[in-house]
Amino acid sequence: MKNSFYKKHLVDITHLNIEDIRILFKRASEIKKIVELKGGDNRLQGKIMATLFYEPSSRTFSSFVTAMQRLGGGIIPLFSMFNSSAVKGETLEDTARVFSSYADLLVVRHPELGSVRQMARYSSVPVVNAGDGIGDHPTQGLTDLYTIQQKFGDLNKLHVLFIGDLGHYRPVNSLSKLLSLYPQIRISFVSPKEVPIQDGLKKYLVSKKVKFIEANSFENILANVDVLYVTRVKKEYMTESLYHKIKGSYVLTNIFANSMKNNSIIMHCLPRIDEISHDVDSNSRAVYFSQQVRNGMYVRMAILDMILRKN
Ligand code: CP
Repeated sequence: MKNSFYKKHLVDITHLNIEDIRILFKRASEIKKIVELKGGDNRLQGKIMATLFYEPSSRTFSSFVTAMQRLGGGIIPLFSMFNSSAVKGETLEDTARVFSSYADLLVVRHPELGSVRQMARYSSVPVVNAGDGIGDHPTQGLTDLYTIQQKFGDLNKLHVLFIGDLGHYRPVNSLSKLLSLYPQIRISFVSPKEVPIQDGLKKYLVSKKVKFIEANSFENILANVDVLYVTRVKKEYMTESLYHKIKGSYVLTNIFANSMKNNSIIMHCLPRIDEISHDVDSNSRAVYFSQQVRNGMYVRMAILDMILRKN
């Protein structure tokens, strides 16, 4: 089996093909069984990961740290770049040079589009993008695709609906690009008119001949979808006035959730603010707490394993 992740950066996901993803997900499922049986193993003993987070994170940061620890590797215990020499003005380039002298892999989150790619140019070890501004969040996209695959098996013929602030939500970019690998996929994007999907994503989907629509309301679409992906309004990426204009545009209540197919799923990569009402959490369709969060750890364990070990 060809491991195309080995010693490579994971800055975006457009270079991955269906076979790469199949191999990654197989590894994630194998690792899941090991974790369930004995918590992990020592396959990454002697390897060190540096997490360079210039933006807050709960899930991505913690799941990478626990993923490395469960595989026997070590971490540089730096919980935020706000405790590093970045606050003294050290550049991204120098930071990449320095941390890649200590670690075998860098995991980087940064508010600016393209910043992680820039660091990858100066790093002597693989760099994983943990979210770069409004760009990509490859490990979240892969986690989401794994969650969908676990539910449906065959990823073709699914109808995926994204709702919310689609202009600023990087997991929408990453997951949509991954879905474009499956020729019969259908995607509906529902957003306030101020925050539609980005032109770059639209062009990408057109180039891949993906069947997609854009709309401003979701009520008439819900009954036909297999996957509903709800997003948060990214307050930190917009003006106060735009935030107040669009917040609360869509709130998924149990009445809406129950109008969906019985076999459908409701996803959110979290944090959730008020776009999904709390009574939906116990709806059998909701997978954001019950599966998506934990899958993030298994997929990141598989990513670390495949980048750091050839086999
Ligand atoms: N899903 C996600 O990226 O969450 P965090 O911002 O908490 O890492």
